Amino acid sequence: MSIPVPKQYIRDFERLGFGLFVHWGLYSQLGQGEWTYKIHNRSMKEYQKLKDTFTAEDFDAEKLVLLAKNAGCKYITLTTRHHEGFSLYDTCGLSDFDAVHSPAGRDLVKEFTDACNKHGIVPFLYHTTLDWHNNDFNDDFDKYLEYLSKSVEILCRNYGKIGGLWFDGNWSRPDADWKEDELYKTIRKYQPEAIIVNNTGLSNRGAAGNPEIDSVTFEQGTPEPMNREGMSKYIAAEMCQTINNHWGTADLDIDYKSPRELIENLCRCRKVGANYLLNIGPSAQGGISRYQECLMETVGKWMKLYGEAIYCGRPYNAKGNKMNFILKGDKELYLYFFDIGIKGDDNVVEIKNDDGALTFENVPDKVKSIEWLDNREQLEFIQDGTTLSVNATKYPYGMSTCVRVARAKLA
Ligand code: GLC
Repeated sequence: MSIPVPKQYIRDFERLGFGLFVHWGLYSQLGQGEWTYKIHNRSMKEYQKLKDTFTAEDFDAEKLVLLAKNAGCKYITLTTRHHEGFSLYDTCGLSDFDAVHSPAGRDLVKEFTDACNKHGIVPFLYHTTLDWHNNDFNDDFDKYLEYLSKSVEILCRNYGKIGGLWFDGNWSRPDADWKEDELYKTIRKYQPEAIIVNNTGLSNRGAAGNPEIDSVTFEQGTPEPMNREGMSKYIAAEMCQTINNHWGTADLDIDYKSPRELIENLCRCRKVGANYLLNIGPSAQGGISRYQECLMETVGKWMKLYGEAIYCGRPYNAKGNKMNFILKGDKELYLYFFDIGIKGDDNVVEIKNDDGALTFENVPDKVKSIEWLDNREQLEFIQDGTTLSVNATKYPYGMSTCVRVARAKLA
Protein backbone atom coordinates (compact mmCIF):
# COMPACT_ATOMS: atom_id res chain seq x y z
CA MET A 1 0.00 0.00 0.00
CA SER A 2 1.24 3.46 -0.77
CA ILE A 3 1.45 6.66 1.20
CA PRO A 4 -0.37 9.59 -0.40
CA VAL A 5 1.65 12.64 -1.41
CA PRO A 6 0.73 15.73 0.63
CA LYS A 7 -0.88 18.63 -1.15
CA GLN A 8 1.33 21.70 -1.04
CA TYR A 9 -0.79 23.57 1.51
CA ILE A 10 -0.67 20.61 3.88
CA ARG A 11 3.10 20.33 3.46
CA ASP A 12 3.35 24.07 4.13
CA PHE A 13 1.37 23.59 7.34
CA GLU A 14 3.72 20.84 8.51
CA ARG A 15 6.65 23.15 7.92
CA LEU A 16 5.23 25.77 10.25
CA GLY A 17 6.21 23.36 13.00
CA PHE A 18 5.44 25.46 16.03
CA GLY A 19 2.36 27.55 16.78
CA LEU A 20 0.88 29.56 19.63
CA PHE A 21 -2.64 28.78 20.82
CA VAL A 22 -4.51 31.63 22.52
CA HIS A 23 -7.60 31.04 24.67
CA TRP A 24 -9.30 34.30 25.49
CA GLY A 25 -12.93 35.06 26.15
CA LEU A 26 -15.34 36.40 28.76
CA TYR A 27 -14.27 33.56 31.08
CA SER A 28 -10.83 35.17 31.30
CA GLN A 29 -12.35 37.78 33.63
CA LEU A 30 -13.12 35.07 36.18
CA GLY A 31 -9.66 33.56 36.17
CA GLN A 32 -10.89 30.00 36.69
CA GLY A 33 -10.38 28.45 33.31
CA GLU A 34 -12.49 28.43 30.16
CA TRP A 35 -14.90 25.77 31.43
CA THR A 36 -15.88 27.65 34.59
CA TYR A 37 -19.43 28.28 33.39
CA LYS A 38 -20.10 24.56 33.17
CA ILE A 39 -17.90 23.17 35.88
CA HIS A 40 -18.92 25.70 38.53
CA ASN A 41 -22.60 25.49 37.57
CA ARG A 42 -23.03 29.16 36.82
CA SER A 43 -26.29 30.54 35.43
CA MET A 44 -26.13 31.97 31.90
CA LYS A 45 -28.22 34.93 33.02
CA GLU A 46 -25.41 35.97 35.34
CA TYR A 47 -22.54 34.74 33.23
CA GLN A 48 -23.50 36.70 30.14
CA LYS A 49 -23.16 39.94 32.08
CA LEU A 50 -19.42 39.46 31.74
CA LYS A 51 -19.93 41.02 28.33
CA ASP A 52 -20.69 44.36 30.04
CA THR A 53 -17.28 44.48 31.70
CA PHE A 54 -15.29 43.21 28.73
CA THR A 55 -13.17 46.17 27.63
CA ALA A 56 -10.24 44.38 25.96
CA GLU A 57 -8.19 47.38 27.02
CA ASP A 58 -5.04 45.31 27.52
CA PHE A 59 -5.28 43.46 24.22
CA ASP A 60 -2.47 44.48 21.92
CA ALA A 61 -2.58 42.21 18.89
CA GLU A 62 0.77 43.32 17.63
CA LYS A 63 2.46 42.63 20.95
CA LEU A 64 0.93 39.17 20.99
CA VAL A 65 2.09 38.45 17.46
CA LEU A 66 5.61 39.62 18.25
CA LEU A 67 5.70 37.48 21.38
CA ALA A 68 4.88 34.46 19.24
CA LYS A 69 7.29 35.42 16.51
CA ASN A 70 10.20 35.91 18.91
CA ALA A 71 9.46 32.51 20.40
CA GLY A 72 9.85 30.96 16.95
CA CYS A 73 6.16 30.33 16.32
CA LYS A 74 5.08 30.57 12.70
CA TYR A 75 1.35 30.64 13.38
CA ILE A 76 -1.18 31.60 16.03
CA THR A 77 -4.56 29.97 16.62
CA LEU A 78 -6.96 32.35 18.37
CA THR A 79 -10.26 31.34 19.99
CA THR A 80 -12.64 33.53 18.01
CA ARG A 81 -15.56 31.94 19.87
CA HIS A 82 -15.29 29.38 22.65
CA HIS A 83 -17.99 27.17 24.18
CA GLU A 84 -19.40 30.13 26.16
CA GLY A 85 -20.69 31.45 22.82
CA PHE A 86 -19.15 34.94 22.94
CA SER A 87 -17.46 36.03 19.69
CA LEU A 88 -14.31 38.12 19.59
CA TYR A 89 -15.30 39.10 16.03
CA ASP A 90 -18.07 41.19 14.56
CA THR A 91 -20.86 38.70 13.90
CA CYS A 92 -22.40 41.23 11.52
CA GLY A 93 -25.79 41.16 13.17
CA LEU A 94 -26.03 37.40 13.70
CA SER A 95 -25.87 37.94 17.45
CA ASP A 96 -25.15 40.79 19.84
CA PHE A 97 -23.13 38.46 22.06
CA ASP A 98 -19.91 39.65 20.47
CA ALA A 99 -17.00 42.03 21.08
CA VAL A 100 -18.43 44.89 19.06
CA HIS A 101 -21.48 44.94 21.35
CA SER A 102 -19.34 44.95 24.49
CA PRO A 103 -17.53 47.97 25.96
CA ALA A 104 -14.53 46.87 23.86
CA GLY A 105 -16.49 47.93 20.77
CA ARG A 106 -13.81 46.52 18.49
CA ASP A 107 -13.45 43.59 16.13
CA LEU A 108 -10.61 41.80 17.92
CA VAL A 109 -10.21 39.14 15.26
CA LYS A 110 -9.60 41.85 12.69
CA GLU A 111 -6.90 43.35 14.89
CA PHE A 112 -5.43 39.89 15.27
CA THR A 113 -5.39 38.96 11.57
CA ASP A 114 -4.04 42.39 10.60
CA ALA A 115 -1.18 42.08 13.10
CA CYS A 116 -0.42 38.53 11.89
CA ASN A 117 -0.31 39.64 8.28
CA LYS A 118 1.89 42.60 9.13
CA HIS A 119 4.50 40.38 10.79
CA GLY A 120 4.39 37.28 8.58
CA ILE A 121 2.63 35.04 11.08
CA VAL A 122 -0.12 32.77 9.75
CA PRO A 123 -3.49 33.37 11.47
CA PHE A 124 -5.60 30.35 12.40
CA LEU A 125 -9.09 30.76 13.78
CA TYR A 126 -10.41 28.45 16.49
CA HIS A 127 -14.19 28.24 16.54
CA THR A 128 -16.38 26.28 18.91
CA THR A 129 -19.08 24.06 17.52
CA LEU A 130 -20.63 23.47 20.94
CA ASP A 131 -22.48 26.49 22.35
CA TRP A 132 -23.64 27.04 25.94
CA HIS A 133 -25.20 30.43 25.20
CA ASN A 134 -27.33 29.80 22.13
CA ASN A 135 -30.49 27.95 23.19
CA ASP A 136 -30.93 26.53 19.71
CA PHE A 137 -28.00 24.27 20.41
CA ASN A 138 -30.34 22.18 22.56
CA ASP A 139 -33.75 23.22 21.26
CA ASP A 140 -33.41 23.44 17.49
CA PHE A 141 -30.14 21.90 16.37
CA ASP A 142 -30.68 22.51 12.64
CA LYS A 143 -31.27 26.19 13.28
CA TYR A 144 -28.18 26.25 15.44
CA LEU A 145 -26.10 24.66 12.66
CA GLU A 146 -27.25 27.39 10.31
CA TYR A 147 -26.07 29.99 12.81
CA LEU A 148 -22.75 28.17 13.12
CA SER A 149 -22.34 27.98 9.38
CA LYS A 150 -23.10 31.68 8.91
CA SER A 151 -20.64 32.50 11.68
CA VAL A 152 -17.92 30.51 9.97
CA GLU A 153 -18.74 32.11 6.65
CA ILE A 154 -18.10 35.52 8.23
CA LEU A 155 -14.68 34.33 9.37
CA CYS A 156 -13.91 33.02 5.89
CA ARG A 157 -14.96 36.19 4.09
CA ASN A 158 -13.97 39.15 6.24
CA TYR A 159 -10.38 38.55 7.31
CA GLY A 160 -8.36 37.94 4.17
CA LYS A 161 -6.47 34.71 3.68
CA ILE A 162 -6.42 32.60 6.82
CA GLY A 163 -4.20 29.63 7.54
CA GLY A 164 -6.96 27.44 8.82
CA LEU A 165 -10.02 26.84 10.92
CA TRP A 166 -9.82 24.86 14.13
CA PHE A 167 -13.15 23.47 15.28
CA ASP A 168 -13.83 22.10 18.72
CA GLY A 169 -16.93 20.61 20.24
CA ASN A 170 -18.29 17.88 17.97
CA TRP A 171 -17.24 15.43 20.66
CA SER A 172 -20.04 16.87 22.83
CA ARG A 173 -22.63 15.19 20.60
CA PRO A 174 -20.90 12.26 19.00
CA ASP A 175 -24.09 10.89 17.47
CA ALA A 176 -25.49 14.11 16.02
CA ASP A 177 -25.40 14.97 12.35
CA TRP A 178 -23.20 18.06 12.38
CA LYS A 179 -23.55 18.52 8.60
CA GLU A 180 -19.81 18.74 8.35
CA ASP A 181 -19.84 18.36 4.56
CA GLU A 182 -21.80 21.57 4.17
CA LEU A 183 -19.68 23.48 6.63
CA TYR A 184 -16.45 22.44 4.97
CA LYS A 185 -17.85 23.19 1.51
CA THR A 186 -18.47 26.76 2.64
CA ILE A 187 -14.88 26.99 3.84
CA ARG A 188 -13.46 25.58 0.60
CA LYS A 189 -15.49 28.09 -1.38
CA TYR A 190 -13.84 31.10 0.25
CA GLN A 191 -10.61 29.65 1.64
CA PRO A 192 -9.65 26.74 -0.60
CA GLU A 193 -6.28 26.26 1.08
CA ALA A 194 -7.30 26.69 4.70
CA ILE A 195 -6.23 23.82 6.93
CA ILE A 196 -9.38 22.30 8.40
CA VAL A 197 -9.05 20.81 11.86
CA ASN A 198 -11.81 19.43 14.05
CA ASN A 199 -10.54 18.49 17.46
CA THR A 200 -11.30 14.90 18.38
CA GLY A 201 -10.67 15.54 22.07
CA LEU A 202 -8.95 13.82 24.95
CA SER A 203 -10.57 10.45 24.42
CA ASN A 204 -10.00 10.15 20.71
CA ARG A 205 -6.56 11.51 19.95
CA GLY A 206 -5.22 11.19 16.43
CA ALA A 207 -8.54 10.15 14.90
CA ALA A 208 -9.23 11.23 11.35
CA GLY A 209 -12.80 12.03 10.35
CA ASN A 210 -14.44 13.78 7.45
CA PRO A 211 -12.35 13.57 4.24
CA GLU A 212 -11.94 17.35 4.21
CA ILE A 213 -10.00 17.28 7.48
CA ASP A 214 -6.36 18.25 6.88
CA SER A 215 -4.82 17.54 10.26
CA VAL A 216 -5.59 15.32 13.21
CA THR A 217 -5.19 16.58 16.78
CA PHE A 218 -3.44 15.04 19.77
CA GLU A 219 -4.86 17.22 22.54
CA GLN A 220 -2.57 17.18 25.60
CA GLY A 221 -0.84 14.01 24.52
CA THR A 222 2.26 12.56 23.00
CA PRO A 223 1.64 12.36 19.29
CA GLU A 224 2.19 8.98 17.74
CA PRO A 225 3.79 8.42 14.37
CA MET A 226 1.13 8.65 11.70
CA ASN A 227 0.49 5.57 9.63
CA ARG A 228 -0.61 6.99 6.31
CA GLU A 229 -0.49 3.79 4.32
CA GLY A 230 -3.61 3.41 2.25
CA MET A 231 -5.03 6.80 3.28
CA SER A 232 -6.96 8.52 0.51
CA LYS A 233 -5.25 11.80 1.35
CA TYR A 234 -2.13 12.85 3.28
CA ILE A 235 -3.18 14.30 6.65
CA ALA A 236 -0.93 16.32 8.95
CA ALA A 237 -0.83 16.10 12.75
CA GLU A 238 -0.77 18.65 15.54
CA MET A 239 -0.46 18.36 19.31
CA CYS A 240 -1.95 21.17 21.37
CA GLN A 241 -0.97 21.65 24.97
CA THR A 242 -1.56 23.98 27.90
CA ILE A 243 1.37 25.90 29.37
CA ASN A 244 0.05 25.08 32.87
CA ASN A 245 -3.11 22.96 33.31
CA HIS A 246 -5.79 25.26 31.90
CA TRP A 247 -6.45 26.74 28.46
CA GLY A 248 -8.20 29.88 29.71
CA THR A 249 -6.34 31.81 32.40
CA ALA A 250 -6.62 30.39 35.94
CA ASP A 251 -5.26 32.63 38.68
CA LEU A 252 -4.46 29.81 41.05
CA ASP A 253 -2.95 27.42 38.56
CA ILE A 254 0.77 27.95 39.11
CA ASP A 255 1.71 24.55 37.74
CA TYR A 256 3.57 25.85 34.70
CA LYS A 257 5.66 23.64 32.50
CA SER A 258 9.36 24.32 32.60
CA PRO A 259 11.30 25.49 29.56
CA ARG A 260 12.78 21.98 29.46
CA GLU A 261 9.33 20.39 29.22
CA LEU A 262 8.21 22.83 26.55
CA ILE A 263 11.34 22.29 24.47
CA GLU A 264 11.25 18.51 24.88
CA ASN A 265 7.57 18.43 23.94
CA LEU A 266 8.23 20.52 20.87
CA CYS A 267 11.03 18.15 19.85
CA ARG A 268 8.91 15.05 20.50
CA CYS A 269 6.20 16.43 18.26
CA ARG A 270 8.64 17.09 15.46
CA LYS A 271 10.13 13.63 15.88
CA VAL A 272 6.89 12.23 14.44
CA GLY A 273 6.30 15.16 12.09
CA ALA A 274 3.55 16.76 14.18
CA ASN A 275 3.23 20.48 14.86
CA TYR A 276 3.32 21.72 18.43
CA LEU A 277 0.58 24.19 19.35
CA LEU A 278 1.44 25.67 22.72
CA ASN A 279 -1.31 27.55 24.54
CA ILE A 280 -1.29 30.71 26.63
CA GLY A 281 -4.28 32.28 28.37
CA PRO A 282 -4.43 36.07 28.34
CA SER A 283 -5.81 37.76 31.44
CA ALA A 284 -9.24 39.44 31.83
CA GLN A 285 -8.80 42.24 29.32
CA GLY A 286 -6.33 40.57 27.00
CA GLY A 287 -2.90 41.23 28.50
CA ILE A 288 -0.30 38.46 28.78
CA SER A 289 1.23 37.69 32.16
CA ARG A 290 4.91 38.35 32.57
CA TYR A 291 5.47 34.72 33.52
CA GLN A 292 3.98 33.38 30.30
CA GLU A 293 5.95 35.95 28.34
CA CYS A 294 9.15 34.80 30.01
CA LEU A 295 8.50 31.17 29.20
CA MET A 296 7.88 32.06 25.57
CA GLU A 297 11.01 34.21 25.48
CA THR A 298 13.02 31.32 26.88
CA VAL A 299 11.72 28.90 24.26
CA GLY A 300 12.60 31.64 21.78
CA LYS A 301 16.25 31.53 22.87
CA TRP A 302 16.30 27.83 22.05
CA MET A 303 14.55 28.38 18.73
CA LYS A 304 17.09 31.00 17.72
CA LEU A 305 19.83 28.38 18.06
CA TYR A 306 18.05 25.34 16.66
CA GLY A 307 14.91 26.56 14.83
CA GLU A 308 16.18 25.30 11.49
CA ALA A 309 16.02 21.74 12.79
CA ILE A 310 12.42 22.25 13.91
CA TYR A 311 11.12 23.74 10.66
CA CYS A 312 13.11 21.71 8.13
CA GLY A 313 13.48 18.31 9.77
CA ARG A 314 11.13 15.47 8.87
CA PRO A 315 10.74 12.07 10.51
CA TYR A 316 13.56 9.62 9.92
CA ASN A 317 13.77 6.01 10.89
CA ALA A 318 17.08 5.96 12.80
CA LYS A 319 17.27 4.67 16.37
CA GLY A 320 19.29 6.62 18.92
CA ASN A 321 20.29 6.07 22.57
CA LYS A 322 17.54 6.84 25.03
CA MET A 323 15.52 9.79 23.70
CA ASN A 324 17.97 10.82 20.99
CA PHE A 325 16.62 10.86 17.45
CA ILE A 326 17.27 12.15 13.94
CA LEU A 327 15.22 14.27 11.53
CA LYS A 328 15.99 14.66 7.87
CA GLY A 329 16.15 17.93 5.94
CA ASP A 330 16.67 18.35 2.21
CA LYS A 331 20.44 17.83 2.27
CA GLU A 332 21.17 17.22 5.93
CA LEU A 333 20.28 15.26 9.01
CA TYR A 334 19.44 16.88 12.34
CA LEU A 335 20.72 14.91 15.31
CA TYR A 336 18.80 15.61 18.51
CA PHE A 337 20.63 14.87 21.76
CA PHE A 338 18.96 14.94 25.16
CA ASP A 339 20.91 15.47 28.39
CA ILE A 340 24.37 16.26 27.18
CA GLY A 341 26.48 17.28 30.18
CA ILE A 342 28.43 20.48 30.75
CA LYS A 343 32.18 20.65 30.34
CA GLY A 344 34.00 21.99 33.31
CA ASP A 345 35.57 21.23 36.58
CA ASP A 346 34.08 18.44 38.65
CA ASN A 347 34.13 20.78 41.64
CA VAL A 348 31.43 22.82 40.00
CA VAL A 349 29.50 20.73 37.49
CA GLU A 350 28.26 17.23 37.93
CA ILE A 351 29.79 15.16 35.17
CA LYS A 352 26.76 13.59 33.52
CA ASN A 353 28.65 11.78 30.82
CA ASP A 354 32.06 12.15 29.31
CA ASP A 355 32.39 13.19 25.74
CA GLY A 356 31.80 9.96 24.07
CA ALA A 357 30.31 8.15 21.20
CA LEU A 358 26.54 8.20 20.99
CA THR A 359 25.23 5.83 18.42
CA PHE A 360 22.36 5.89 15.96
CA GLU A 361 21.36 2.72 14.14
CA ASN A 362 19.71 2.65 10.75
CA VAL A 363 21.31 5.68 9.10
CA PRO A 364 21.64 4.75 5.42
CA ASP A 365 22.51 8.31 4.28
CA LYS A 366 26.27 8.92 3.97
CA VAL A 367 27.41 11.63 6.37
CA LYS A 368 30.16 14.06 5.37
CA SER A 369 30.53 16.27 8.44
CA ILE A 370 28.69 17.06 11.67
CA GLU A 371 28.56 20.28 13.68
CA TRP A 372 26.59 21.63 16.62
CA LEU A 373 24.01 24.13 15.41
CA ASP A 374 24.66 26.38 18.40
CA ASN A 375 28.41 27.01 18.17
CA ARG A 376 29.39 25.29 14.91
CA GLU A 377 31.93 23.06 16.68
CA GLN A 378 32.77 20.14 14.39
CA LEU A 379 32.08 16.70 15.83
CA GLU A 380 34.05 13.56 15.19
CA PHE A 381 32.08 10.60 13.96
CA ILE A 382 32.41 7.14 12.50
CA GLN A 383 29.90 5.67 10.12
CA ASP A 384 30.09 1.94 9.78
CA GLY A 385 27.47 0.70 7.37
CA THR A 386 24.26 2.19 8.66
CA THR A 387 25.58 2.74 12.20
CA LEU A 388 26.56 6.31 12.99
CA SER A 389 28.61 6.99 16.13
CA VAL A 390 29.07 10.63 17.04
CA ASN A 391 31.37 12.10 19.62
CA ALA A 392 28.72 14.37 21.11
CA THR A 393 30.85 16.82 23.04
CA LYS A 394 29.44 18.37 26.16
CA TYR A 395 28.19 21.94 26.42
CA PRO A 396 30.87 24.52 26.90
CA TYR A 397 30.74 25.81 30.48
CA GLY A 398 28.10 28.57 30.63
CA MET A 399 25.57 26.83 28.43
CA SER A 400 22.85 24.19 28.75
CA THR A 401 19.92 24.08 26.35
CA CYS A 402 17.96 20.95 27.38
CA VAL A 403 18.10 19.46 23.89
CA ARG A 404 21.20 20.00 21.77
CA VAL A 405 21.00 19.62 18.02
CA ALA A 406 23.78 18.92 15.52
CA ARG A 407 23.53 19.20 11.77
CA ALA A 408 25.08 16.48 9.65
CA LYS A 409 25.89 17.39 6.06
CA LEU A 410 25.32 14.55 3.65
CA ALA A 411 27.84 13.38 1.12
C1 GLC B 1 -11.18 21.04 24.55
C2 GLC B 1 -11.83 21.87 25.54
C3 GLC B 1 -11.35 23.21 25.48
C4 GLC B 1 -10.13 23.60 24.76
C5 GLC B 1 -9.70 22.61 23.73
C6 GLC B 1 -8.31 22.84 23.23
O1 GLC B 1 -11.70 20.02 24.00
O2 GLC B 1 -13.20 21.78 25.55
O3 GLC B 1 -11.75 24.03 26.46
O4 GLC B 1 -10.42 24.72 24.05
O5 GLC B 1 -9.92 21.35 24.10
O6 GLC B 1 -7.76 21.73 22.66
